[in-house]
Amino acid sequence: MKFFVDTADTKDIAELYETGLLDGVTTNPSLIAKSGRSFLEVVAEICKLVPGPVSAEVVALDHATMMREAEVLRKIADNVAVKVPLTIDGLKTCKALSDDGTKVNVTLCFSANQALLAAKAGAAFISPFVGRHDDNGFDGMELIADIRLIYDNYAFDTEILVASVRHPVHVLESAKIGADVMTAPPAVIKSLFNHVLTEKGIAGFMADWAKTGQSIL
Ligand code: E4P
Repeated sequence: MKFFVDTADTKDIAELYETGLLDGVTTNPSLIAKSGRSFLEVVAEICKLVPGPVSAEVVALDHATMMREAEVLRKIADNVAVKVPLTIDGLKTCKALSDDGTKVNVTLCFSANQALLAAKAGAAFISPFVGRHDDNGFDGMELIADIRLIYDNYAFDTEILVASVRHPVHVLESAKIGADVMTAPPAVIKSLFNHVLTEKGIAGFMADWAKTGQSIL
């Protein structure tokens, strides 16, 4: 499963990229607002930091303006994936851009039927929001399993990008179901490295090693 980080904070992105485990980045208008930076500048900087797909979202709601915005976004760098909302205009835009060779991430997916439509529109990625789904009394991971089943039934190439990931269990369940990608905030990705028994084990080994009086170097 590929790991994308869901942020527009370039310091966090650079730090995670250094681990060698980061495959891409997702942003959205709220994350851009949180960064306090110019949208086009910050996307250009992220695209230089990470060679994998960097999702940059259109903000228009009509197809014609989405196409004009996408034209600006895809010129930023070759690794920009244009993000469009799961609406009729968004999917029309997805189809046109995908037919033209641009990677499109269809966002704000909350049903398996929406995911089916996105795949038919040629999306490179579908982003089902599991956290927001759970928040509203639905089962986010059941949605991922349904989409996996449907995409496998018809051998769709669209990658399932699990979004709105809130905790490590979402990551674990995504991997068990066979999602292609998950995108999570930096704190969730960093928490995946931790286990209390790992820390305890290191403390024990270090204490015993100190007793030997030896050094490797
Ligand atoms: C994904 O592309 C979205 O930016 C993101 O995962 C939304 O997460 P949230 O529901 O925590 O805002």
